[in-house]
Amino acid sequence: MFTKTAKQYDDVYSYKDYEGESELITTLVRERVPNATTLLDVACGTGKHLEHLSKSFECQGVDLDTEMLKISEERMPEARLHNGDMCEFSLNSKFDAVTCLFSSIGYTKTVDRMEEAVSNMANHLNPGGMLLVEPWITPEAWIPGRVHADKYETGDGFVLRMGVAEPVDRGRLVLEYMIGNSNGISKVTETHEMGWFTHDEYSNAFTKADLKLEYLEEGLTGRGIYIGLKPE
Ligand SMILES: C[S@@+](CC[C@H](N)C(=O)[O-])C[C@H]1O[C@@H](n2cnc3c(N)ncnc32)[C@H](O)[C@@H]1O
Repeated sequence: MFTKTAKQYDDVYSYKDYEGESELITTLVRERVPNATTLLDVACGTGKHLEHLSKSFECQGVDLDTEMLKISEERMPEARLHNGDMCEFSLNSKFDAVTCLFSSIGYTKTVDRMEEAVSNMANHLNPGGMLLVEPWITPEAWIPGRVHADKYETGDGFVLRMGVAEPVDRGRLVLEYMIGNSNGISKVTETHEMGWFTHDEYSNAFTKADLKLEYLEEGLTGRGIYIGLKPE
């Protein structure tokens, strides 16, 4: 996960249009749950979707990584944020919409755990509520051995990041960072244990969780979107 690079996360992903994505999420929710007032973002990371979604909904967030949550808390000191695993967190509240964005579901790694996460998120929906999951890449898009490298500006220096897609199970990403600023250069290695899932595996998980499934091929960022409506 991003524990050791949480402070660099927003710079690395500065290309993402969190505001535009949040507007689209709001539209998707309003079209299906017109009276929705509450939203839970699971695996909320540094809170950049929550920041925008809070304009339309009373929001809460969950994330497993306390370093990522700290940044969410700095961004939104008044928000209710919870430390928990998407497969087993348990809140006393239910929500009109639950989201799990930017491939976070891939961190469940196995089909069993992905199904547990979908079921747990569905259990936090009010009747008539909507679950929205943005998947990780498809098995066809996973290229074992692929290497990528990028440079990002951080305001006080640069991050250089190189990653390799290791040919292990359903996907393991090893990322090496060089983080440079006026204090010097530090190096960090991160291993992201993830799992790609097929369309049928995601669809089965939604069906098993008693959600009425809808799939939008383009989604927010081209990776598709799974939407599940909980019966009234
Ligand atoms: C790619 S980041 C996405 C963060 C945020 N949703 C965004 O769009 O920027 C993946 C997030 O999933 C979180 N995560 C990984 N495994 C998790 C789990 N089992 N339960 C909850 N959060 C998890 C990580 O800590 C990280 O914040």
